[in-house]
Amino acid sequence: MLILVLLSISSVEGQGGGGGGVIDVVAKFGAKADEKTDLSKPLLDAWKEACASTSPSKIVIPKGIYFLSTATLDGPCKAPIELQVQGTVKAPADPGAFKEPKWITFNRIENFKLSGGGVFDGQGTTAYKREGCKGHDYCGSLPINLRFDFLTNAMIQDITTKDSKQFQANVLGCENITFEHFTVSAPDESPNTDGIHIGRSDGVNVLNSEIKTGDDCVSIGDGSKNLVINGVTCGPGHGISIGSLGLFKNEEPVDGVTVKNCTMTNTSNGVRIKTWPGAEPGTCSNIHFEDITVTNVSSPIIIDQKYCPWNKCKINEESKVKLSNISFKNIHGTSARPEAVKIICSATLPCENVELADIEITHSGPTGPAVSQCSNVKPKVSGKQNPAACSAPIPAKPTPTA
Ligand SMILES: *[C@@H]1O[C@H](CO)[C@@H](O)[C@H](O)[C@H]1NC(C)=O
Ligand SMILES: *[C@@H]1O[C@H](CO)[C@@H](O)[C@H](O)[C@H]1NC(C)=O
Ligand SMILES: *[C@@H]1O[C@H](CO)[C@@H](O)[C@H](O)[C@H]1NC(C)=O
Ligand SMILES: *[C@@H]1O[C@H](CO)[C@@H](O)[C@H](O)[C@H]1NC(C)=O
Ligand SMILES: *[C@@H]1O[C@H](CO)[C@@H](O)[C@H](O)[C@H]1NC(C)=O
Repeated sequence: MLILVLLSISSVEGQGGGGGGVIDVVAKFGAKADEKTDLSKPLLDAWKEACASTSPSKIVIPKGIYFLSTATLDGPCKAPIELQVQGTVKAPADPGAFKEPKWITFNRIENFKLSGGGVFDGQGTTAYKREGCKGHDYCGSLPINLRFDFLTNAMIQDITTKDSKQFQANVLGCENITFEHFTVSAPDESPNTDGIHIGRSDGVNVLNSEIKTGDDCVSIGDGSKNLVINGVTCGPGHGISIGSLGLFKNEEPVDGVTVKNCTMTNTSNGVRIKTWPGAEPGTCSNIHFEDITVTNVSSPIIIDQKYCPWNKCKINEESKVKLSNISFKNIHGTSARPEAVKIICSATLPCENVELADIEITHSGPTGPAVSQCSNVKPKVSGKQNPAACSAPIPAKPTPTA
């Protein structure tokens, strides 16, 4: 990083043929922090210059409030590139203003950094009630605030995404991308606003971040490998979820996910793996949940291979997704419902090598105490177990989960 900084300083001084240096969208490209002039053209012009530079460059969006209709920032670029957002960038409030499900997209860039302490405000509150969806197709393609597509070696640091109309951030086809001090903020009642959705990516880290939203805190789709989630605070929302898997054809394996040192408060799930009954085959292995604090979480530990919202599946069929090498270690706190531990695996492909160690989850209230239910799994058990592992019967009709 020091080398990068020195390089960019020297290129500013030299203003040599390589370009690079610091590009201020206001000073150089006439962007206006007036909340109405579209930032799109100044930003794209700055990107074009920075991307063509053969030495590292940094685009700065200074403090102030900007309006941005939409922008796709494409690579490949000739040298490392940083976008430093100090201000607040607002999206059009009208969901009908978007033709595609995206607001800001970073695409096919190597050595990219997004930083600056700034805010991306999707102004989604207008979309949350889903008013006027009938007769319009935009409700099926509401924009995602931030898309990171096919990036290699990227750092997303000190950035806030707020009130996206759909997912807050989406990671697709990336290799080595780290989110650090990433803040997500949206109300509990915002539908389908997953904090970070990750799919088909290798080497994703989500570190020391705070995610408050209406749907999953972090959701992990097929083709995710080598993920580390550490120091993340979730809630409200639906918790950290792998899946749903097994709905679509040709899903790639999920392999290697570590969720550690995380805190969940008032979420509907804590740590979860969900797969659809019937449908398509898949695999999910080497998944480790460790050092998790849950407070008032409805389903703190859950494997659900009968995941079937909206009756969209054949519930009497078994899931064809194979789950193996899964551990839950040192998970403690309080559950909002008695079903604190629920490990419901497929009868045709039972879960293999599941481990429960040091589980301490209490539930109080008229429906208590906490229970632990298992089916088609024989977990290896060690340390404290409260509730006693797999001690409760499975109800004929399982409680549906969000
Ligand atoms: C991604 O990171 C890993 C581990 O640091 C490294 O071995 C690998 O080369 C990186 N991939 C790319 C494409 O730079
Ligand atoms: C645990 O997470 C907190 C943030 O919630 C972070 O400050 C701390 O460094 C993390 N600890 C370790 C050992 O990673
Ligand atoms: C959890 O919910 C309770 C009751 O609604 C509320 O008082 C508390 O602030 C919430 N905690 C967090 C961290 O959101
Ligand atoms: C627990 O969370 C639920 C929402 O899931 C909330 O309604 C309730 O007030 C919370 N209770 C406490 C004690 O925080
Ligand atoms: C499960 O873990 C064992 C022991 O670490 C390893 O040999 C095996 O390959 C793993 N299974 C999968 C499907 O990755």
